[in-house]
Amino acid sequence: MRLLVCGGAGFIGSTFVRQRLLEDGDEVTVLDKLTYAGREENLQDVAERPGFRFLRGAIEDPAAVAGAIEAARPQAIVNFAAETHVDRSIAEPDAFVATHALGTYVLLEAAREHELRFLQVSTDEVYGSIESGSFTEDSPLSPSSPYSATKAGADLLVAGYFHTYGLQALICRGSNNYGPYQYPEKLIPLMILNAMHGDALPVYGDGQQVRNWIHSTDFCRAIGHVLAHGAAGEVYNAGGPDEQPNIAIVQRIVELIGADPAQIEHVPDRPGHDRRYSLSSEKVRTLGWSPRVLLDEGLGETVAWYRDNSWWWEPIRSGDYRAYYERQYGRALR
Ligand code: NAD
Ligand code: DAU
Repeated sequence: MRLLVCGGAGFIGSTFVRQRLLEDGDEVTVLDKLTYAGREENLQDVAERPGFRFLRGAIEDPAAVAGAIEAARPQAIVNFAAETHVDRSIAEPDAFVATHALGTYVLLEAAREHELRFLQVSTDEVYGSIESGSFTEDSPLSPSSPYSATKAGADLLVAGYFHTYGLQALICRGSNNYGPYQYPEKLIPLMILNAMHGDALPVYGDGQQVRNWIHSTDFCRAIGHVLAHGAAGEVYNAGGPDEQPNIAIVQRIVELIGADPAQIEHVPDRPGHDRRYSLSSEKVRTLGWSPRVLLDEGLGETVAWYRDNSWWWEPIRSGDYRAYYERQYGRALR
């Protein structure tokens, strides 16, 4: 296929691009704004592959989107582009509204004009928190943060374009991803790098919040199945095989790295913090998908990747990330 992948320089988007170029032999054009989380380094191993093209631009910029479609002549758009960190959405929601609401709208208009298939990458957070059992695609949307509220808004816009204009649009909602190239503001890479450096490991509240972990390669394969076999207008959940409380993840990282358990510090909880996420993936399994990577195996490999790839994270830890880290954790950890 010829694909336009928006947000393809981020953590999951770059994993998807790698899979599609190396395993599926697709032509892939990436359109990415290169925010703090988007990095061309994430794609440097495939940058010279035939069929790969990188364009810098924002999805809320109609001219950038039109230019990307003209260059790529895609059969489908896959939209990963997003602001993705819940804590940043609590501190500064503006970019979340611009990218998720306006950006998704601009892409939908372009898909409508060129009659393209459109896949929106979404999140389990749009359903809110669940005490027991798992969310299905029919569960009501009940987002808790500016991040998840704007992602839910984008999903509703996608549904509106399907119903109103007959756009061939699909949504794939994933649970918490982990794996190589994840920006170290997120729980797992933050804890890995802090554990390796002897720094504090800041656990929000009691650490008993549960997340449903999926390896990024498994989520990307699910997106591929939905793109190829999903029915237009449908939503497909893709949840991981394991659920764990945050504190158990942090303790396992401490063990894998041989860090000191005394580095773990409980800090004030995230406002509006969802207690538990859990997705039922029965529907996407009917398309032939199932997850391959169990958490313990995937976590061990992820720790090894960060240990072996300091070239990737050293520039992050010595740049703007330090100011973000100080704003987010400084007072709580002093
Ligand atoms: P990320 O923050 O690593 O990457 C986001 C990418 O989008 C970056 O390359 C960034 O530069 C780009 N981007 C941001 N705003 C843009 C804009 N306006 N125009 C063009 N590009 C823009 O995020 P990720 O973790 O790879 O998440 C990718 C997608 O998957 C998001 O839509 C997210 O909501 C969804 N998702 C993430 C997870 C997770 O656990 N990380 C789970 C489920 C769903
Ligand atoms: O569930 C899917 C979502 O997962 C995605 O849609 C989001 O883009 C992605 O960021 C992620 O959201 P979370 O808020 O669940 O991920 P985060 O890594 O920020 O936090 C995971 C859990 O760990 C959450 O309960 C908060 C907690 N946490 C996080 C950080 C960064 C801590 O206890 N301490 C921390 O320092």
